[in-house]
Amino acid sequence: MKPKVYLTRKLPDEIINQLSEKCELRMWSSEEEPVPRAVLEREIQEVDGLFCMLTEEIDRSLLENASNLKVVANMAVGYNNIDISAAKEKGVVVTNTPGVLTETTADLTFALLMATARRIPEASTYLRKGKWEAWSPMQLTGQDIHGSTLGIIGMGRIGEAVAKRARGFDMNILYHNRRRNQEAEDKLELQYAELDQLLKESDFVCVLTPLTAETKNLIGVKELRMMKKTGILINTARGGIVNEEALYHALKEEDIWAAGLDVFAEEPVSLQHPLLTLPNVVTLPHIGSASVTTRLKMAEVATENLLKVLDGEKPPHPVG
Ligand code: GLV
Ligand code: GLV
Repeated sequence: MKPKVYLTRKLPDEIINQLSEKCELRMWSSEEEPVPRAVLEREIQEVDGLFCMLTEEIDRSLLENASNLKVVANMAVGYNNIDISAAKEKGVVVTNTPGVLTETTADLTFALLMATARRIPEASTYLRKGKWEAWSPMQLTGQDIHGSTLGIIGMGRIGEAVAKRARGFDMNILYHNRRRNQEAEDKLELQYAELDQLLKESDFVCVLTPLTAETKNLIGVKELRMMKKTGILINTARGGIVNEEALYHALKEEDIWAAGLDVFAEEPVSLQHPLLTLPNVVTLPHIGSASVTTRLKMAEVATENLLKVLDGEKPPHPVG
């Protein structure tokens, strides 16, 4: 008998075929729309494996309904959407997809940093709205990237990959992490800083840490006040790490200069969200890892994790 698996979103055929060969596969057949909670609650009762996205909240009550479940394979590096301790208590293995998305996410982080510093979306809109009547000396002036100081909060794989890009722009790089990363310090000429020092000295503050109980609202009123008036905050990690209300006020009152956000506390973000009313915020719909090649690789890694556990083996990327 093949193990039963539920897949929460339509994926490319090659992935579906690979899963169908080894499993009795059921799936939510929309590519765009997440599986409704009620459907997931029903489907999870029977299955041995769940292949899910970061849009699904895999909480205790859901896990308690899943008596055959052996594995939850999340198609993301972040796994704050899963209750890890509840999974552990139930003997359910949780896996993620690190490594394959590092460079792609670092590319996007740098793109967002540059777009925010040089006001690229605003400038593009300015032209298209017919506001460009003449070249003028101080028109749409932004902040320099080269030679500035970048503060990276969270020196994991993605942090290192962003630092590598920053070296090419002759940036001075500070970082803050739970543990010092001596290897990265040597290789990339990074300087370790306490969070306060990093916030005070950086021109760009880049959030690249996982969302956990310790990092929830890590950047709030006090932290934003420590930043320079010309400072720019970039978040491509998780919305919950930055207190959005505090950020709104800091931007509105010009305590900091701008923010570039790929992630929000609630996704998709509401068009009524106060942050979306500000001109000095560049917003993206959580596209950090969104290249064709990388999304396919993430699906492949999640598939491998899932099938290994169902085969009774250790998966390549267990978490928790
Ligand atoms: C995306 O945000 C991921 O965690 O992979
Ligand atoms: C994720 O891959 C990280 O360690 O930053």
